[in-house]
Amino acid sequence: MTSWAAVKQLIRSDIDRYQYMLELDGVLPRRGPQLVRDLRTLLLCKGAQAGIVFRLGHALIAWTPTTVAGRWGRRVGRIGHWMAGRVIETRTGIQIADRATIGPGLYIGHFGGVIIGVVTMGANCNLSHGVTLGRSGRVGDLARPTLGDRVWVGPGAVLVGGITIGDDAAVGANTVVTKDLPARSTSVGSPPRTFPDRGSFEMIVYRGSEEDPGRHASLLRIAPAGGDRGLPEQRRRFEPEPTEVGPVVSGRPA
Ligand SMILES: CC(C)(COP(=O)(O)OP(=O)(O)OC[C@H]1O[C@@H](n2cnc3c(N)ncnc32)[C@H](O)[C@@H]1OP(=O)(O)O)[C@@H](O)C(=O)NCCC(=O)NCCS
Repeated sequence: MTSWAAVKQLIRSDIDRYQYMLELDGVLPRRGPQLVRDLRTLLLCKGAQAGIVFRLGHALIAWTPTTVAGRWGRRVGRIGHWMAGRVIETRTGIQIADRATIGPGLYIGHFGGVIIGVVTMGANCNLSHGVTLGRSGRVGDLARPTLGDRVWVGPGAVLVGGITIGDDAAVGANTVVTKDLPARSTSVGSPPRTFPDRGSFEMIVYRGSEEDPGRHASLLRIAPAGGDRGLPEQRRRFEPEPTEVGPVVSGRPA
C-alpha cells in the first residue's frame, strides 16, 4: 500500500518541477506564501493537474482497506476519481493510466494529445505534447515501455512495445521508437538515428539537478571527449579532483 505521506511527496515533487520552470521563466516569483504559489502553478500548468489526478488514482488502486468502512471509502473514492479523471482528460488533453508506475517529478509541458499507458517511468522525466507511450498495437501483445530516469520525450513521439529507454536519453520530435534506446543517447527521426553521449542533460532541469548524485554519475559515464556541445565541460565539473601524491620512496608514496 502507498502511504498518504508517500503520495503527498510524489505530488509535491511533481508540482515543484513546474514551479521551478515557472521561476526560471520569470513567471512565478521565487518567494511568497507556498499555498498561493501552488495554486498559481496548478492554474498555469495542465500537466500538474493531470499529474495530481494520476497520483491519487494510483494510490487508490494500490490501497487495500481492511475494514468495511475502508472498502466503502475506496469504492466511493474510485467513482469520484473516475469522474474527476474524465473532466481532467477533457481539460488537459492528458490521459495517464492509473496503473502506470511513474517516479517523482513527472513534467508534461503542454496541453494535449498525451497518452500514457501502463508504462514504467523513472524520476524527473519530461513528456511533450502529442506523446504516446503504450502497447505495440498487436492483438495480445501487452508489453509496454520502460523509461529510465530523466528521459526527455519530444512532441509527437511514439514509444511502443516492451522497449527500454535508458537513463538520460532524449527522443526527438515525431520519432517512432519500437526498439531499446541506450542511456545518455539522443534519437531522432523514424527509424531513429541515435547519437550516443548527448542525451537529455541540456533539456531536463529540476530543483537540485546540479547537485543530484544520480545525474552526476550518469554524466561521468559519457565519453570525456565524445559528447559534443558543452557536455564535456559539464562532465568535467563533476570529475573528482586528482589526488596529490608525494614523491615515491621504495614503491610507496612518501
Ligand atoms: C531531440 C532534439 C532536441 C535533438 O536536438 P540536437 O541534439 O540539437 O540535434 P541537432 O539539431 O544537432 O540535429 C542532429 C541531426 O538530427 C536531425 N534532427 C534533429 N531533430 C530531428 C527530428 N526531430 N527528426 C528528424 N531529424 C532530426 C537534424 O536535422 C540533424 O541532421 P544532420 O546530422 O543530417 O544535419 C531535437 O531533435 C528535437 O526534437 N527538438 C524538439 C524541440 C521542441 O519540441 N521544442 C518545443 C517544445 S514546446
